[in-house]
Amino acid sequence: MNKGFMVVFDGSNGAGKTTVINEVARYLTEKGFSVVLTREPGGTPIGEKIREVILDPSTPEMCDLTELMLFGAGRAQHLAEKIKPAIAEGKIVLSDRFDAATFSFQHYARGIDLATISQINELALHGFKPEMNIILDLDPLEGLKRVKSRGEGLDRLEDEKMDFLVKARNGYLLQAQQQPDNFSVIDAAQSKTQVLEQVLKIIDNLLAQYA
Ligand code: TMP
Repeated sequence: MNKGFMVVFDGSNGAGKTTVINEVARYLTEKGFSVVLTREPGGTPIGEKIREVILDPSTPEMCDLTELMLFGAGRAQHLAEKIKPAIAEGKIVLSDRFDAATFSFQHYARGIDLATISQINELALHGFKPEMNIILDLDPLEGLKRVKSRGEGLDRLEDEKMDFLVKARNGYLLQAQQQPDNFSVIDAAQSKTQVLEQVLKIIDNLLAQYA
């Protein structure tokens, strides 16, 4: 049996995570690996209900700590119900966002202190950490243009001021600098082909290490 492992795709809104994650899933499936696609907030029936609460644009009054704890609650369920069992079965888990997003959005952008963020993540994860975070890095202004051009409405977090989104982006870049073995940054302003080529190189390295 293959050893299971987890890769997270993260970065600015509109950076193309969904396209990339689907292409990676196809690549791995064609190679014969069992893949579990998932996302945060969400990933489980309970997590998807929590997602609706978190992202609802009609409740801008949600306080910062409520938001943080809802992300934490969803993550605890996600890990217990879906991620750990999949890894134990030798599957490769591909997640659209995970704990790095909490450091970027709730700490660097929202301003909640690092100790509180770490406490919530630790409660949810008990030291578990994905093998790799692939950050699709894009100027948030460009990202927002892409989101709007898809004709979708903005969720509660996308509706934040540009300054918030810039801070979140910088949060990812800082985490990548601090944990180079656990993060890879890809310039998402490149063509889709270039982005995918670079992502697949990282995936091949992970397969050589863990599969
Ligand atoms: P999505 O746009 O990738 O579906 O993610 C929804 C929003 O949730 C996005 O604006 C990023 C935000 N988010 C956080 O603020 N903290 C987190 O821990 C996660 C997982 C997402």
